[in-house]
Amino acid sequence: MLEGKIALITGAGRGIGRAIAAALAEAGAEVALLDAGRPEEVQESAAQIAALGRKAKAYLCDVGDYWRSKECVEQVIGDFGGVDILVNNAGITRDALLLSMKPEDFAEVLDVNLKGAFNLCKHLCGHFIKKRGGRIINISSVSGISGNAGQSNYSASKAGLIGLTKSLARELASRNITVNAIAPGFIETEMTAKLPEKAREALLTQIPLKRAGKPEDVAALAVFLASDSAAYITGEVIKMDGGLCI
Ligand code: NAI
Repeated sequence: MLEGKIALITGAGRGIGRAIAAALAEAGAEVALLDAGRPEEVQESAAQIAALGRKAKAYLCDVGDYWRSKECVEQVIGDFGGVDILVNNAGITRDALLLSMKPEDFAEVLDVNLKGAFNLCKHLCGHFIKKRGGRIINISSVSGISGNAGQSNYSASKAGLIGLTKSLARELASRNITVNAIAPGFIETEMTAKLPEKAREALLTQIPLKRAGKPEDVAALAVFLASDSAAYITGEVIKMDGGLCI
């Protein structure tokens, strides 16, 4: 389905990013995996994919760093010969109620979750325009649609990502570049493992499908959005939340 395509995925060391990288590779794509966290995790993600016989390479890159992300995009284009699919998945939380939220926690979340996606789109869009095609998939959140008490920084960043998605979809459509967002609900990863047991239970009772999602659920949608079947979809925000925000 994605044979001959090259994908760049941020935050690919674990969780949803790792699952998206694996699923794109399974569908035939070669994958460049970027992460700023524990180097061994992103190396391991790449090694698992390479073991299946697909080209995969890990890069250490803080997506919030404009110049490092530019350098990294150039490295990826040099190593793979181009990029067709960009998945902006890297994200962090620094949860607190507004009264106790530190300004630096607000700034850091915006820097990674929103500016990080801007940086990657900015560094790759010239390349996509020259190639006359490309796919951008931004991993937002239902928190960016409905808001969430204790997550004003995170929700603002994820709502911003939806605005970025829709604006770029309009800006880049004439160049055959589609830009879409996935808004996951409650997905089992290290990010949500931090939630107190009571909060998890309360959340589960609100999900009509009565279970948390898996990283693979999100990955399947990313593969579809990257495929030719989704060529006529742009500027969309697709929820993947078991019905949480119907
Ligand atoms: P995770 O914490 O398990 O993985 C996030 C990955 O991003 C890690 O490998 C981390 O090292 C990397 N990362 C963090 N900051 C980075 C930076 N500055 N530059 C490059 N990489 C960086 O989180 P998870 O759950 O896999 O989340 C992935 C995305 O999905 C995030 O954008 C998150 O906001 C979003 N999401 C997750 C939901 C969930 O329930 N797990 C729900 C809705 C959205």
